[in-house]
Amino acid sequence: MRVLVTGGAGFIGSHLTDALLARGDEGSVIDDLSAGRSARVSERATLHKLSVTDAAPLQAVISQGRPDLICHLAAQIDVRASVAAPASDARANVVGTVNVLEAARMVDARVLFCSSGGALYGRDAPIPSMEDVLPLPESPYGTAKYCAEQYVGLYNRLHGTSHSVLRLANVYGPRQDPTGESGVITIFCARLLAGQRPTTARRPATTCTWATWSPRSSPRPATAGQVPGISAPASRSACLTWPA
Ligand SMILES: NC(=O)c1ccc[n+]([C@@H]2O[C@H](COP(=O)([O-])OP(=O)(O)OC[C@H]3O[C@@H](n4cnc5c(N)ncnc54)[C@H](O)[C@@H]3O)[C@@H](O)[C@H]2O)c1
Repeated sequence: MRVLVTGGAGFIGSHLTDALLARGDEGSVIDDLSAGRSARVSERATLHKLSVTDAAPLQAVISQGRPDLICHLAAQIDVRASVAAPASDARANVVGTVNVLEAARMVDARVLFCSSGGALYGRDAPIPSMEDVLPLPESPYGTAKYCAEQYVGLYNRLHGTSHSVLRLANVYGPRQDPTGESGVITIFCARLLAGQRPTTARRPATTCTWATWSPRSSPRPATAGQVPGISAPASRSACLTWPA
């Protein structure tokens, strides 16, 4: 299968590209390298440096490559940046997604859109939050992801496509940037490896869930079970709790 990964020079997208190549797919990557790094992209994948906000070059690359599947991960992922510059966030996360959907339509490619689990639900959402819980995002980033999801659903109804949405929880693993504003497990691990204490906020009975991208190579944080409040109850996930 020919698969194009947008955001393929990023943390998750580069692992996804590696996994696709390992199973024998033909992989290519679109990334503007605003947060991604070209060194993360396998030499076996073609890297196209462009923004999904630029419809014409995006369409040209997709028309030429004619992927069967587009995994759309390219996104502005910084919640604080989305609050500071919501129009810029919407351009990358909403308009960029519409551009991907339009380009995919020209070549009959399926689209798998990576949305957010954590940023979509409001603060009173039940834990765990099932798919039918009403999204009440509290940031422009969450709102843009929800809006992009709606476009994906619209294209399925309007154009008869069978695109899919994944709402990822908080993902952690190798290649994640520990200097970013999200990715608490990676931030904690980086601090612990540097001999520093992680900064924690104590809130009564708060529980978050985390997913790890690469359970075999890095099944859980090195600190799991060693730091008060962190436990790893299952091989593919860990819970971080702040007891009262
Ligand atoms: N990491 C998480 O915990 C998490 C949780 C929920 C959802 N997600 C979603 O998963 C996807 C990947 O996240 P990540 O953690 O790997 O982030 P990341 O920042 O490492 O990867 C995003 C990539 O998109 C690229 N990019 C940004 N804007 C672009 C644009 N306009 N055009 C082309 N490329 C652009 C960046 O350069 C980067 O390489 C995102 O869509 C994110 O919203 C991530």
